[in-house]
Amino acid sequence: MQDGRTTLTQFIIEEQRHVAGATGDFTGLLNDIATACKVISNAVSKGALIGLLGNAGAENVQGEVQKKLDVISNDVMIKSNEWAGHLSGMASEEMEDIYPISGSNVRGKYLLVFDPLDGSSNIDVNITVGTIFSILRSPSFASNAGSDCKTEDFLQPGAQQVCAGFALYGPSTLLIITTGHGVNGFTLDREVGEFILTHPDMRIPEDTQEFAINASNERFWEWPVKRYVDECLAGKTGPRAKDFNMRWIASMVAETYRILTRGGVFMYPKDTKDPAKPGRLRLLYEANPVGFIVEQAGGLCTTGLERMLDVQPTALHQRVPLIFGSKNEVERIERYHRELRAAA
Ligand code: F6P
Repeated sequence: MQDGRTTLTQFIIEEQRHVAGATGDFTGLLNDIATACKVISNAVSKGALIGLLGNAGAENVQGEVQKKLDVISNDVMIKSNEWAGHLSGMASEEMEDIYPISGSNVRGKYLLVFDPLDGSSNIDVNITVGTIFSILRSPSFASNAGSDCKTEDFLQPGAQQVCAGFALYGPSTLLIITTGHGVNGFTLDREVGEFILTHPDMRIPEDTQEFAINASNERFWEWPVKRYVDECLAGKTGPRAKDFNMRWIASMVAETYRILTRGGVFMYPKDTKDPAKPGRLRLLYEANPVGFIVEQAGGLCTTGLERMLDVQPTALHQRVPLIFGSKNEVERIERYHRELRAAA
C-alpha cells in the first residue's frame, strides 16, 4: 500500500493468498513480466532520442519487417523471464521456434507466450503500441521436470490460460491483467516505478455504437461481416435504426483498451485477400490473451463460428479470424455467420 494506493505487487500477493497451495511462483513471474514492460515502456518512450526508431533490417517468421524495438522488446522479455525458475519455456511472435529454459537456468511450471510489441508498424509515427502475454501451465514440467518443453506443450486452447494481460505504451503506460477473476488495470507511476491499481474490475458495456475494422479490405470480406458493416453504415435510416462510429488504429492493444473502456467491436475477420491465411492475427499470443481478457470483462471473442478460447491450436504461429467486444454486437455477428452456414 502506498498512500492508500494498491500496487501491482500487493494486488498479486493478495490474489495468491486465495489460491490453496500457491508457492509464489506465479507472483514472481508476473512481477518479472511487469519489470520487462517497464523496461520496454522506457525504450519506446525514448524512441528517436536513443536511436531506436526504424527497421531492424530483417523479417520475422510471419514475413513482416521487424522494427528495432520489436527485437529489443523480445530480448527484454526473454532476459527478464528466463532466470527466475518460474518457466519451462517461452514462445514469441518474433521467434520461429520455442525457447525452452535449459542450461544453467532452473525450469519451472509455467509457459509464457507473448507478442513483445503489438502494433509495431505504428512505432515510427508515435502511436500507442503494447506487449501482449499469456501464461499457460507446462505439461512437460508436470510430467517430467527434467525434460525440455516441446512445441506441442504450447498448443493449448485459450480456455486453459492461467493469466493473460497486455501492457499499453501510450500517453500513460498501463498494465491490464486477468487471472480468471475479472480484469484489472494498473497505471505506471513513473516517479515511484510501480504499477498502481487505477482501473479495478473493468467491464465492457454490452451494447455499443462503435466498430473497428480495416475497411480497405472490404472487397475481400465474407458476407456476414459485409452485412454487419453495411448495416452499421446505413445508420439511423437502416435496419439498425441508429448511427455508428468507426475507428481503426491498426494497433490491436490500443483498440482492445478502448473497447474495455467504453465498449465497441473489433474485427479482423477471415477474408479472401490471401487464401493461405485464415486471418491476420495470431491465436496463441494475440487472439487468446485478448479473448480471455474480453470474456472476463463481460464481452465476447469469436472466430465468427467458434468461441476463441475453445479453438484447438495446431501450430505456434497459427492465424485466426478475430472478432471481439461488446456482447450483444458480437452475438449478432456470430448469428450472421451461422445464418450463412445454415443457408449453404
Ligand atoms: O500484428 C498485429 C497488428 O499490428 C494489430 O495490432 C493490428 O490490429 C493489425 O495488425 C493491423 O493490421 P492492418 O495493417 O491490416 O491494419
